[in-house]
Amino acid sequence: MDIKVETTKKKIEAYDVEKIRKDFPILFQKVHGKNLCYLDNAATTQKPQSVIDEVIKYYETINSNVHRGVHSLSEMATQAYEESRNKVRDFINASSEKEIIFTRGTTEGINLVAQSFGRMNLKDGDEVIISTMEHHSNIVPWQMICEEKNAKLKVIPINENGELIFEEFEELLTEKTKIVSVVYVSNSLGTINPVKKIIEKAHSFGVPVLLDGAQAIQHFRVDVQDLDCDFFAFSGHKIYGPTGIGILFGKKALLESMPPYMGGGDMISKVTFEKTTYNQLPYKFEAGTPNIADTIGLGKALEYVNQIGIDKIAVYEKELLDYATESLSQIEGLKIIGQAKEKSSVISFVFDIVHPHDVGTFLDFEGIAVRTGHHCTQPVMDRFNIPATARASFALYNTKEEVDVLVNGLKKVLEVFS
Ligand SMILES: Cc1ncc(COP(=O)(O)O)c(C=O)c1O
Repeated sequence: MDIKVETTKKKIEAYDVEKIRKDFPILFQKVHGKNLCYLDNAATTQKPQSVIDEVIKYYETINSNVHRGVHSLSEMATQAYEESRNKVRDFINASSEKEIIFTRGTTEGINLVAQSFGRMNLKDGDEVIISTMEHHSNIVPWQMICEEKNAKLKVIPINENGELIFEEFEELLTEKTKIVSVVYVSNSLGTINPVKKIIEKAHSFGVPVLLDGAQAIQHFRVDVQDLDCDFFAFSGHKIYGPTGIGILFGKKALLESMPPYMGGGDMISKVTFEKTTYNQLPYKFEAGTPNIADTIGLGKALEYVNQIGIDKIAVYEKELLDYATESLSQIEGLKIIGQAKEKSSVISFVFDIVHPHDVGTFLDFEGIAVRTGHHCTQPVMDRFNIPATARASFALYNTKEEVDVLVNGLKKVLEVFS
C-alpha cells in the first residue's frame, strides 16, 4: 500500500502538466468565448515562452548573417546557429554534426533526397517503395523523380486496422529497389510503423531507407544510430519550435556521395566560370542565407523537451491516448479510423450522420480545435473509402479534462445533427 502511494506521488511530481501548460501563453485564451482546447497538434504544436523569447532575443541582440563575417555579431550568430546543429545531433544521437542538414521542414528534406539521391541513383526500370499511409510530401517528390527517370513507384498496402502489411513489403523488395521511404508515425491514422524491421529487411537487399519522422520526433525517443536509418526528416514546428525550419539527417557517406540539391552562396568551395567545387558537409546542402532565427529557436525547443524528458512525455501521452480512445469509443455512431496495436497521439474518426467538416466547425464554436479533411493523405481516405476524417491529436500539454471537453462537444454535435 505504502509503495503504491509513493509511486503515484512520484508520478505526479514527475509530470506536472499544469505547470507545463503555463509555459505556453497561447493556451490561455478564449475562442468564441470558450477556453481554447487545442487538439490540432499533428498539424503544428504551440510554442513555449522560452522559444518565443529566444527568437526575439536573436533579433534584438545578435541579428547578423552567418558564416560570412569576422565582426562580433556575425560570429555570435554563427556560434548560436551551429550550437543548434549540435543540439539536434545530440537529440537524435547522430554520430556527427555533419550529418545534420537544416531545411525548411520535412517536405524539403524528402525533396532533397528525391532530387539528389534519386536523380543520381534512379534509372529506367528501377523501383522506389513507399506505403499507402504516406503524407503527400512523401509521395509526390518520389512520383516526380520516378516520372523523370522512368522508374516505378511501389506501394506497401495497409490492413483494416491501418497497419502496414509487412509480408507485402517483403514481396515488393527486389534487386531493382533503389530506396524505401516510409513514414515512422502516420499523421492520419496514428500508426507507429515497425521501422527497425523495415530497415533491417531493406538493408539485407542493400537498399537505404528514409524515415519521415514528422510525427515521431515529438512523441518518443529517436536514435538514428540505433534505428540504423539512412535518412531521417522532421520539422521544427511539430516539436514546439518555429515554422520554416526542419532537419534532414543523412548518413555521412551517403550525403558525401550525393550532389547538391540547390546551388548558391555558402554551398561552394570555389567558383569559376569553368568549374565550381562544393563546400564540405553539411554546408553543401545549405545554399543561401539560412533561417537563422528559427534554427536557434529550434535549438531552444529541443532544450525545452529535454528538460521535461522525452521518455516522460511518451509515457504521459500514451496514458492520454488510451484515455481518449476509451472515451471516444463510448460515443454512439463514432468510428475510429486507425486501430493499430502500436499508435501515437492521433485519433481520426468519422460519424455516419455528420460530415467531418461540420464536426470541426461545430467544435470550433466550443473553443475546440481539431483538424478535418484528408490530412494530406488522400490515399488513406481512399483505402478506407471515406472523403475525410475529423482528427484530434495530442501534445505534451494536453489533459484528460480536455479529452472530456472534446467528448462533451461531440455529444452536442450529435444532439444537433441527429
Ligand atoms: C507525416 C508527415 N510527413 C510530412 C509532413 C510535412 O511536414 P511539413 O509541412 O512541416 O514539411 C507532415 C505534416 O503534417 C506529416 O504529418
